[in-house]
Amino acid sequence: MGNTLIKIAVPVIGLAAALVIALVGYFVVQSWWSQPPAVLGFGDGPTQPIAFPHTVHVTTAGLDCQFCHRTVSTDEAAGVPAVAQCRFCHDFTRITGEQSESPTAEAEIAKLIGDLIEGPDPVNWARVHRLPDHVQFVHAPHIQQGFSCSTCHGDIASMEVVEQVRNLKMRDCVDCHRNNEAPTDCTTCHY
Ligand code: HEC
Ligand code: HEC
Ligand code: HEC
Ligand code: HEC
Ligand code: HEC
Repeated sequence: MGNTLIKIAVPVIGLAAALVIALVGYFVVQSWWSQPPAVLGFGDGPTQPIAFPHTVHVTTAGLDCQFCHRTVSTDEAAGVPAVAQCRFCHDFTRITGEQSESPTAEAEIAKLIGDLIEGPDPVNWARVHRLPDHVQFVHAPHIQQGFSCSTCHGDIASMEVVEQVRNLKMRDCVDCHRNNEAPTDCTTCHY
């Protein structure tokens, strides 16, 4: 009698244990997979005070990146244009969005040409890329070396909202420096 019980109990317990292990395993793996990739500390771009689409300006209006990001090949920062530069088209030549099919275009452009915005530096664009303060990055040598914007920023021309697409962490910078015989001592990038 005792023997029969063991003969039944052992496989039943074995099976139950296997099931528990499989289930726990499944949930561990499953929750691990559904985590966002931790190495990539970036995601969707921030909401901007004016919904400025790169798509229209680079593709439809045919503007060069450096028309707006004027200091990218000479300075540390690429620079973001002042409203006066937007008004070059959205005021004097009266591109108001009225003709456009997009219901938001007119309202967004109105922020530029109406009296909603005044003063010398009125638009507080939210930063998309932002290195910590202890790191120095300078655009100029990279552009002079012949790297295109897309090497680090991806296909901005097709982004309605700019987002960070490249890691740009220390390892990423150092790997590229090593591959291109650029300096890798700490003081190159750290003050
Ligand atoms: C008509 C002017 C204009 C043109 C042309 C333009 N940009 Fe911009 N760019 C802006 C403005 C305004 C912002 C800030 C708002 C935003 O992030 O969308 C910006 C933001 C960016 C940012 C994000 C900056 C940050 O905060 O990290 C990148 C990167 C960028 N532009 C790259 C490019 C590249 C590459 C091109 C050419 C393919 C280009 N831009 C063409 C006006 C322009
Ligand atoms: C080697 C990589 C690299 C290349 C190439 C590059 N960028 Fe950047 N860009 C960065 C990094 C890194 C930051 C963040 C800098 C910081 O936070 O100090 C940045 C920030 C920016 C910003 C926001 C801050 C600022 O500097 O005004 C703009 C705008 C920008 N880039 C535009 C451009 C444009 C336009 C080009 C091409 C002409 C370009 N970048 C090429 C790496 C790059
Ligand atoms: C060289 C001319 C030119 C310059 C400079 C320019 N734009 Fe534009 N912009 C255009 C054109 C063309 C359109 C498309 C017109 C339309 O949608 O009716 C447009 C459309 C827009 C729209 C509506 C987009 C949509 O379809 O939803 C916004 C918002 C805008 N621009 C903001 C800006 C801002 C902000 C700046 C300055 C950083 C700027 N523009 C600089 C030519 C320009
Ligand atoms: C796509 C490759 C690439 C990436 C990515 C890159 N760099 Fe560079 N960087 C270079 C090259 C090549 C040079 C050397 C240019 C020269 O010799 O003038 C350079 C030069 C520099 C310089 C100037 C060094 C000097 O003393 O002249 C600094 C600072 C710098 N990089 C910082 C960074 C930081 C910080 C990052 C990451 C956020 C980064 N770089 C990402 C390729 C890259
Ligand atoms: C080519 C550029 C570059 C060089 C060279 C470089 N760093 Fe960095 N470092 C970065 C960037 C970009 C960050 C910020 C992003 C990050 O945390 O990875 C950083 C971050 C750091 C941090 C902070 C990490 C954290 O978790 O906050 C330390 C510490 C550091 N670096 C030490 C060093 C030391 C020590 C050296 C020399 C052996 C060095 N770095 C060389 C680009 C560089």
